[in-house]
Formats: sequence, structure tokens, C-alpha cells
Amino acid sequence: MEITSTQKTIGIVNSGGDCAGINTVIASAVIAGIRMGYQFVGFELGWEGLIDRKYRKLDLEDAGRIQNLGGTVLHTTNRGRFAAKVGQNQTNKIDPEILEACKRSVDELGIDGLLVIGGDGTLSGALQLAETGVNIVGIPKSIDNDLYATEHTFGFATAVEVAVEAIDRIQTTAFSHNRIFFVECMGRNAGWLSLYAGLAAGADAILLPEFPTSLDDIVEFLRYRRDRHRNSTIIVVSEAFEIEGKAVTQGSSVTNEVIFSGISNELIRRLEELAPHEFEMRNVVLGHTQRGGSPCAEDRILSKRFGTRAMEAYDRGLFGHMVALQQGQIHPVPIKDAVDRLKLVTKENNIYEAARRTGIFLGDLQDYLATARPDNMANMPYMISAK
Ligand code: F6P
Repeated sequence: MEITSTQKTIGIVNSGGDCAGINTVIASAVIAGIRMGYQFVGFELGWEGLIDRKYRKLDLEDAGRIQNLGGTVLHTTNRGRFAAKVGQNQTNKIDPEILEACKRSVDELGIDGLLVIGGDGTLSGALQLAETGVNIVGIPKSIDNDLYATEHTFGFATAVEVAVEAIDRIQTTAFSHNRIFFVECMGRNAGWLSLYAGLAAGADAILLPEFPTSLDDIVEFLRYRRDRHRNSTIIVVSEAFEIEGKAVTQGSSVTNEVIFSGISNELIRRLEELAPHEFEMRNVVLGHTQRGGSPCAEDRILSKRFGTRAMEAYDRGLFGHMVALQQGQIHPVPIKDAVDRLKLVTKENNIYEAARRTGIFLGDLQDYLATARPDNMANMPYMISAK
């Protein structure tokens, strides 16, 4: 497709892992932007499409068709020539030739600038490209909710919903069998997804990467419950939770990305060694189910707010900025403020506090025993076992 028009053309790039709401963001930016006099193209497969000049026009018809669809119609990848983050606090400098190729694509295709939809890694890359003079406005996406400058990223609420629904289902089978279930949630180094899902579903314990605990304390917690006739237990565990300072990871055969996977299995193996035959344990890894499917209502609304406000920021020339949710309103903030550090769970956070005060074990056994008396232990009504 030739880009020939007197209208300014904006290119949309989404990169990194997908999540629910990307299509909603694209649709709302396109609808709002066309009304402001812009036209749009979408680059395929993230930055790869920008480098290789693979793109498609996005019009009002596309926008209407995709606005509630999960995933991204543009496809995406979290590997490739543009990958800017390789792990926590590790920012890769993108090869200047790749940055130059992206800039050439923008200039030679006659594109005015880019809307870049992504998480921490993508926006780190976007910042480096913006520094070469490309007009960029960012839109924060991630089921991990770990971007610093925004209270929420889109995709997070849907992932929480998926996890809560799964935990609700596990509760009944755990209860029937008097079993202990470890439910492994995504989120990389941030425990938000596990914390929200565990609190909403009424889990008995939530193990987060931010708050390490010992295997001995987990055994004590399980015995404490068992001795009080709580024969089934739901433990939500973040994929990056560490046992004795070590996360359970797999190397990727195609990238240098760290893949967190298997902590729930490993916990069962290690606890069985410590307390042989004491507890019947099972695990469920929610994995990519948390990223799939259509966005929930909250994410659709946040995505539409982000998409439309990103267009407003673009029109005002606020390049190098991204839209962010702060105190209930969407504001433009420098991308730099969002990618400098990760937003992690702290004990001062009131979601953490609500979990603690409702008797959920969060890794601190002394604190748990001091506050979780048998009559206020976290449980669902049907979780109270017959004595
Ligand atoms: O960052 C989003 C995320 O879903 C993480 O929660 C998870 O660790 C990772 O991406 C999985 O990535 P991939 O799709 O490459 O396996």
C-alpha cells in the first residue's frame, strides 16, 4: 500500500507480549484520530514490521470490527531486532543501525509519527527511537501492571478476572478432596496479578516475589490450618517467587529472555521433602490463559480512555510522552518516568493491607499468627471443613 495523502499519517506499533485490550486501544485511537483529520497504518509484528515496512491501512471499518477482540490483529513479538529489555533493570541499547532503519522507514514512508503500545521493554525501545527525533506517544500495556508512572496498565484487569474465575473453580475441587492447591500466576517480578487475584478470590495464602518466605514457614502455615480443621488451602503463587533466593526459570531457545515457569511444581516437590506424606498437594499453572480472550469491561474502558487521550497528546505534540492513569485521570507523562524502574508491591499498599487484614498469609509467619486467629482465618463459607 502506498501512503499518499495530504492527511498526516500515524503508524501504530504494538510490541511485546499480547494482552486483552490492544485491539480496543487501536480502534479507539483510529476512531478518535480520523475525526481529528489523521489517517492510520498499523505495522505488523511489532517493530519488525516497521523495520521491514510491513503495514496495513487501518480505517473506521477495521476499528469497528476489532474493538472488542482479544489479542492484536497486528500480531506481535517479544523478540526480534528491537528488543530493548532483557530482564529486571537490564536495558539493552538498541543497535544504532536498527534505530536508523526505523527512522528511515518513518521518514521514507511519509509517516508523521507513531503511537507505540507496549510494556516496559517496548516503551524503553520507544524512548530510544524518540531520541532520534521520531514523533512518538506511548500507551502502557501489560498484564503485569508493573509500569511505574501509571496506576494501571490495560490488560491487567482482564488477567485478574481470568485468574479469579480459575481460583473460584479450584476452591470447590480443593475443598471436596481436602487438598492444597498452588495456583501459579504470571506477572514476572511484580506480584500485582497474584495479589489482586488472590484477594478477590479469597485465597488462603499469596506468595509474591517481593516478599520471600522460607519453606519451613510455609509448612508451619499449612500445619496451623490443618490443626484447625482447614483441610483445604488455596495458595496463589507468583511465577517469579523465589525459593531460597532462586526463581524457577527456563531459558528460551530462541531469545535470551528469562521465562518464569514451574515454581508451583517445585514448591510441591520441596514441601513434600520437608513434610513427607503430610499434605496432598496439586498445582495449576494459569499461564497464557491470563493473556487470552476479550477484554473485560474495565479494560475496554481503560483502553478507550488511553487510545483517545493518546491521540489528544499526539495532536498537542507531546512526543516522548505516554498516557498514564493517575488519581483516576489520564495524563501525559514522560516515557522516561515509566521505564526507569518497576512498580512493585509494597507493604504500604492498601491492597496488600486488605489481604493481610483479612487473614491471608503473605509470607510473614509471625505477622500471620499474630493476626489470623482461627475465627478470622481467610476462607470461603464452603471452605470450613466438618470437624
Ligand atoms: O509480561 C507479560 C508476561 O505475560 C509475563 O507475565 C510473563 O512472564 C511473560 O509475559 C511470558 O512471556 P511469553 O509470552 O514470552 O512466554
